[in-house]
Amino acid sequence: MKIGIIGSGKIGGNLGKHWSKAGHDVLFSSRHPEELGSLAKEAGDNAEATSVEAVFEADMDVYLLAVPFGAIDKISELYAGEYGNKVIIDATNPYPSRDGEVAEKVRDANYAASEYTATKFSTARTAKAFNTIQAAHLKNRAFQEVDRLAVPFAAQDNISKEIVEGLIEDIGFDAVYLGDLGKSKMMDVDEKLYGKSLSKNDLLNLFE
Ligand SMILES: NC(=O)c1ccc[n+]([C@@H]2O[C@H](COP(=O)([O-])OP(=O)(O)OC[C@H]3O[C@@H](n4cnc5c(N)ncnc54)[C@H](OP(=O)(O)O)[C@@H]3O)[C@@H](O)[C@H]2O)c1
Repeated sequence: MKIGIIGSGKIGGNLGKHWSKAGHDVLFSSRHPEELGSLAKEAGDNAEATSVEAVFEADMDVYLLAVPFGAIDKISELYAGEYGNKVIIDATNPYPSRDGEVAEKVRDANYAASEYTATKFSTARTAKAFNTIQAAHLKNRAFQEVDRLAVPFAAQDNISKEIVEGLIEDIGFDAVYLGDLGKSKMMDVDEKLYGKSLSKNDLLNLFE
């Protein structure tokens, strides 16, 4: 698959490296793509770095959003209307101290943060994944044969569900589907699944 990484730090950088290792084509991006050369090199021959605009123009199959939540409005304007029908994987979390008023609004709302993202990227198929795992575990616990960690996810429709499930499993985590985006409320900051690194069984036990 062709995967565009929007925000190539602790989450986007490591996921991009994992997906590249799993054989996917990866384009890393940020506001400073000139600083992403060594990351792309480390990720291997099927990875490159470029601007956010160029990643959208490159017509990737899937986009990972791994930027501060406060950047979503602006990035969705770059995407708006022109690059519809793609899968957007939202790994972001709203923190008012970092992301300002929009994060406060979404944290106080009775909808899930991913539903805000889906509204902004309204022509895409939005899914929520990788926002509950700690960056160190994402980096160090991928591709494990034993003691695998589960990655919970929610998705807007069947197509995005299948694609995201595959991308989680491709890098050696167990995918646990929660339901549609409304269900991702339990993945949001301070909610039931937030910050939890658990096996699939332990995660499923939380629901019993
Ligand atoms: N760290 C964790 O443990 C963790 C776990 C799960 C989820 N998350 C969430 O995942 C997201 C990313 O976290 P992170 O820890 O990976 O952050 P990070 O290491 O600071 O990386 C953020 C990346 O986004 C880029 N960026 C920032 N503003 C941007 C913009 N306006 N347009 C394009 N790129 C932009 C940054 O590069 P430039 O500044 O050069 O543009 C950088 O590459 C956040 O929403 C965070 O809450 C974090």
